Amino acid sequence: MLPIDVDRAIGLFDAALRTVAGVHRPGRASPAEPHPEADLTAQARAHAAALMRVNHVGEVCAQALYQAQGLSARAAANRLALQQAAGEERDHLAWSAERIRELGGRTSLLNALWYAGSLAIGAAAGALGDRWNLAFLAETERQVEAHLAGHLERLEPQDQRTRALIEAMRADEHKHRASAIALGAAEIPEPLKLGMRALAKVMSTVAYRV
Ligand SMILES: [Fe+2]
Ligand SMILES: [Fe+2]
Repeated sequence: MLPIDVDRAIGLFDAALRTVAGVHRPGRASPAEPHPEADLTAQARAHAAALMRVNHVGEVCAQALYQAQGLSARAAANRLALQQAAGEERDHLAWSAERIRELGGRTSLLNALWYAGSLAIGAAAGALGDRWNLAFLAETERQVEAHLAGHLERLEPQDQRTRALIEAMRADEHKHRASAIALGAAEIPEPLKLGMRALAKVMSTVAYRV
């Protein structure tokens, strides 16, 4: 029979609950802070809130991926790098949730579902070993970075609070990707990349609304 690590199981459960309930405290001040609130129309605010809801869902998934992959990463250096990135992802999660509240929106009703799905995918990638674990992570970060760049184009130019936040997150995702590659990530085969992109498209379309 497999020994069950109760502490680890409790830690995982606690992290999942905190993510879905949205009770994370950011370690760094929000990059939105120095910028004044723009005078936006109701429609522009609702659009910005929906885009931030999509980003928040991405960060919920990032929490699950890092939880799953941090548990299975075999090399100590990899585990450390993943933990550091996970800390920055927690900031993203808290910042996004805060910005959604400021804009008068709400986080996704399906967060528990997004989290569970990502945890399963992360665990599967982790089971293949560190190179694939990191490959999956690097490709996810690359896609999130591209996605955030797209959001900057769709946001009102004067919405500096939301823009500053997205730009800071984008810079972090770029760094996370570079560190996963530096740690020896394999290159994901093209069809799998396409599959990941299609899945992300479905998620972002749903999360924009729900
Ligand atoms: Fe992030
Ligand atoms: Fe990231």
